Amino acid sequence: IESDICQAIAGAADEAALEAVRIAALGKKGSVSEQLKSLGTMSPEERRTAGPALNGLRDRVTEAIAARKTVLKAEGLAARLAAEAVDVTLPVRASALDSGRIHPVSQVIDEITAIFGDLGFSVAEGPDIETDYYNFTALNFPVGHPAREMHDTFFLPPAADGEKLLLRTHTSPVQMRTMQRQAPPIRIIAPGRTYRNDSDQTHTPMFHQVEGLVIDRSSHIGHLKWLLEAFCRAFFEVEKVEMRMRPSFFPFTEPSMEVDIRCKRVGNEVRFGEGDDWLEILGCGMVHPNVIRHAGLDPDEYQGFAFGMGIDRIAMLKYGMPDLRAFFDADIRWLAHYGFRP
Ligand code: PHE
Repeated sequence: IESDICQAIAGAADEAALEAVRIAALGKKGSVSEQLKSLGTMSPEERRTAGPALNGLRDRVTEAIAARKTVLKAEGLAARLAAEAVDVTLPVRASALDSGRIHPVSQVIDEITAIFGDLGFSVAEGPDIETDYYNFTALNFPVGHPAREMHDTFFLPPAADGEKLLLRTHTSPVQMRTMQRQAPPIRIIAPGRTYRNDSDQTHTPMFHQVEGLVIDRSSHIGHLKWLLEAFCRAFFEVEKVEMRMRPSFFPFTEPSMEVDIRCKRVGNEVRFGEGDDWLEILGCGMVHPNVIRHAGLDPDEYQGFAFGMGIDRIAMLKYGMPDLRAFFDADIRWLAHYGFRP
């Protein structure tokens, strides 16, 4: 019977077949087991020779099965590796190229964050749904002041506690939220969505701003100007930018300025550092003493500056995109053209 079993072991094509052979030989009712059981009915003399012979048989069969099992395992693995192999020389399927793109706004927010991050700024956040207090009152907009109307605010139904709610019209409320959350020195930027009831080629009801805020005991307009120039050079990737500050008005800064950069328009493209055009890119100023006071700080001790920049606008400028409305149309063709590879 040994040669029969050994033939069956050698012929087992896979692990399941081998297991069947094992059960047929060594299982409870297997051929080898039956023989071992018959030892009990033998005379002591018979047993003396048959016992070692049968035990030897059982051991050899067990060993042969284990050896065959190792071989089958290795063959199985080799077969799977062959079947599942990837041919890296095949051309890529067209559908595999359809990966997602990074929206220019996300890309530009990342770029801005990296540049200000290198300059020691961290990122602060505030809610899109703001209270009238944080969006206006805390920022020194007097109640009934015409500057409130200039913002074309989307008002929302009041909160349960009567708090007047709106969609924030600028990222400036994050100034106050940050000052209430952390002690000076403060150096933050706050990128995010903002909302105004306005729509044309350069305005969408939802748009993006990045706020900047520096509060300490000594930062002044000179620092602000250096910072903005350093930012523009890094962001627009130019050696030189020429900037000018025009006097302006914001209730929460005094003095207030608007900043233009010198440029030359060539089609949709804008070149910096040359030409006779001036392009407004942001509003800024020294934080108004009333704002510092509203934050619970002493304006005789602390001072600083703030700025607010339109993210979509500088994205259009940097990447030569003519129509802001296309940013938010969710048109795959536009994104395929202007989107960034991850
Ligand atoms: N919040 C202002 C705006 O939306 C911009 C600004 C920010 C101006 C910070 C001064 C300081 O127009």
